[in-house]
Amino acid sequence: MVLSSTLSLIAVSGCVLLLCGSSCASNDTIPLVIWHGMGDSCCNPLSMGAMKKMVEEEVPGIYVLSLMIGKSVLEDTENGFFMDVNEQVSFVCHQLAQDPKLKGGYNAMGFSQGSQFLRAVAQRCPYPPMKNLISVGGQHQGVYGLPRCPGESSHICDWIRKKLNSGAYTDAVQKHLVQAQYWHDPLNDDLYKKYSLFLADINQERVVNETYKKNLMSLNKFVMVKFLKDTMVDPVDSEWFGFYKPGQAEEMETLMDSALYKEDRLGLAEMNKAGKLVFLATNGDHLQFTTEWFNEKLLPFLH
Ligand SMILES: *[C@@H]1O[C@H](CO)[C@@H](O)[C@H](O)[C@H]1NC(C)=O
Ligand SMILES: *[C@@H]1O[C@H](CO)[C@@H](O)[C@H](O)[C@H]1NC(C)=O
Repeated sequence: MVLSSTLSLIAVSGCVLLLCGSSCASNDTIPLVIWHGMGDSCCNPLSMGAMKKMVEEEVPGIYVLSLMIGKSVLEDTENGFFMDVNEQVSFVCHQLAQDPKLKGGYNAMGFSQGSQFLRAVAQRCPYPPMKNLISVGGQHQGVYGLPRCPGESSHICDWIRKKLNSGAYTDAVQKHLVQAQYWHDPLNDDLYKKYSLFLADINQERVVNETYKKNLMSLNKFVMVKFLKDTMVDPVDSEWFGFYKPGQAEEMETLMDSALYKEDRLGLAEMNKAGKLVFLATNGDHLQFTTEWFNEKLLPFLH
């Protein structure tokens, strides 16, 4: 008796599998758009490639688009250093608008600088609609330092540091150096506000663009992951939208203590009240986390 009922259960489940196959998997998953970090590319099998695969395994049927900025993987990596960020954001907005699979909306996950770039996409390009924005080690108040460079890019970093020191806010450096466009010098706050081509714009430092505010506020969730032992991002608080108090480079200020929040130029205070801001922390160095951590903490935001 027991034996035969076990057998018939197996037969039934075997049948279900046969009937469905992959065509049966319901496709009510929300697509995911990923933007890689500096020195990385869309498709490196050890980074974004692995990430895409991991998400595809965890969420059957999901469409994952790992953004390639340019026409090849090499170009994509180079553009992460040298292509005007505003142009990169336009390029991506265009690509997302053309993709029929994204028509119903998508979640977005940025890694390192890819996070603040995707925030710009949310603020500037409401169609197709971004649902959740997950910032993994992003620098929403920029950086003031470039302590380490990922992988094999250290010679490029040395060169970039020289350029930044020679004048991050000069026209030539701003236009041609990605990292200059989110360089935030607290000792030269006026220069930053006036000449930062990218970050000061999306952070509403010059004018308050009501469209930016409205678009950002229409996110369901804005998740920010901070790496507590981060040795690459300076200051690490930028990963939670904090930064140095203006005029000095020692004392920090949380997002909630900042003028940006108090004046609510970006709608972040209102979002926080509505439970839309999620602050997560993990113990690793820059972008170091386990699959278990990812599945427990971030996967819920991909549904
Ligand atoms: C549904 O999921 C399958 C398997 O991943 C995919 O090949 C297909 O394009 C998806 N269909 C739609 C309409 O998104
Ligand atoms: C505000 O942002 C929108 C979307 O990017 C843009 O079209 C518009 O020109 C901006 N307005 C101002 C005043 O900067």
